[in-house]
Amino acid sequence: MSKALITSFSKKLIAWYGHEGREGLPWQGVQDPYAVWVSEIMLQQTQVATVLERYPRFMKRFPTVKKLAAASIDEVLAEWAGLGYYSRARNLHACASQVLSQFSGKFPSDPRMLEQLKGIGRSTAGAIAAFAFHERAPILDANVKRILARLFGIEGQITQKQVSDRLWALAHDLLPTDSQDMPVYTQALMDFGATWCTSRKPVCLSGARKCPFEQHCQANLSNQVLALPKKVVKAKSPEFDCDMLLMRHGDFVLLHKRPDKAIWGGLWSLPESIWRRKVNGELGISNLQLMELLQLTLPKENISTILQYCAVAICGEKIRHIFTHRRLGMQIWHVNVQHALPFSNPHLMWVPLRQLGRYGLPQPIKILLLELNLVRGDELRN
Ligand code: ADE
Repeated sequence: MSKALITSFSKKLIAWYGHEGREGLPWQGVQDPYAVWVSEIMLQQTQVATVLERYPRFMKRFPTVKKLAAASIDEVLAEWAGLGYYSRARNLHACASQVLSQFSGKFPSDPRMLEQLKGIGRSTAGAIAAFAFHERAPILDANVKRILARLFGIEGQITQKQVSDRLWALAHDLLPTDSQDMPVYTQALMDFGATWCTSRKPVCLSGARKCPFEQHCQANLSNQVLALPKKVVKAKSPEFDCDMLLMRHGDFVLLHKRPDKAIWGGLWSLPESIWRRKVNGELGISNLQLMELLQLTLPKENISTILQYCAVAICGEKIRHIFTHRRLGMQIWHVNVQHALPFSNPHLMWVPLRQLGRYGLPQPIKILLLELNLVRGDELRN
């Protein structure tokens, strides 16, 4: 691409945004760094349609960084439930405390300082600095990488450090000179990647609309638009099985708080066995005896007492969930106990079914409880 286009890129993009950009999204035009930060984190791995529903709700519940830091992690996780990638919620909570303790409750404007905060990567730091502080900081998320790889005909794998360094340098060179243009420019770049220069159906191949960069885009000129950026070949994700205990006493259900570092980290779920790697489609255990099941899912010291209060484990539903890097089959086992035994382990807790909305539960567990008619949808909303 010519030097002339490097200098005119931001103007052309902002002009494009004037006609074709998305409008009316609640995080657009926002300058409060806290609100910008929340929307950027939420938009990272969640679709715009979902964020449209959940972002206003989150902001209503936690309107300031101070309120977010003062909340318990369980309250934050419960509000985040269903959005996936729960490390984002844990990082939000931790970052809010950092902003209070290290920056007296005010987000720094320097992207390098923002990047030191929990859960804020280089691109998100750039977005917050640009939107909230008009800083000339570039962003480089997957959409922007695609745009640049195409415009400049970059053929290397974008996961390689060398390629990524080049993309960052380009992202920097393309910035508008006037820092006042940074919010609109950054939003335009995001929208252009999300709606026009898309991965599978870029507008240049539809023939319906004219891309402002058509004449300069190396990928377009050499018929390589769909080939760039080079796809990173991913191995098929491994498959696991586990047993899950749906233990009830009347209107109470036994929940287990998952470790922070695990999948669904920090959420409350059903007690479960370790995950067994499935090889060649072989099925998990389906004829567990009650004692074995309890040994697989609960602390050893509680088993003999529990056995005095229940008789059978009924093999129930098998539910499946696909994560980004794993697939999991969960065999649900129903056990009713005559007595809600107290557990000394703080990660095990009897919770009234009607109060489940107060806890962040993994989405498939919520769906299971709804399908079993153990709770109503409105009771799961906190
Ligand atoms: N993805 C990440 N941030 C975004 C934003 N501000 N607008 C649209 N999509 C986004």
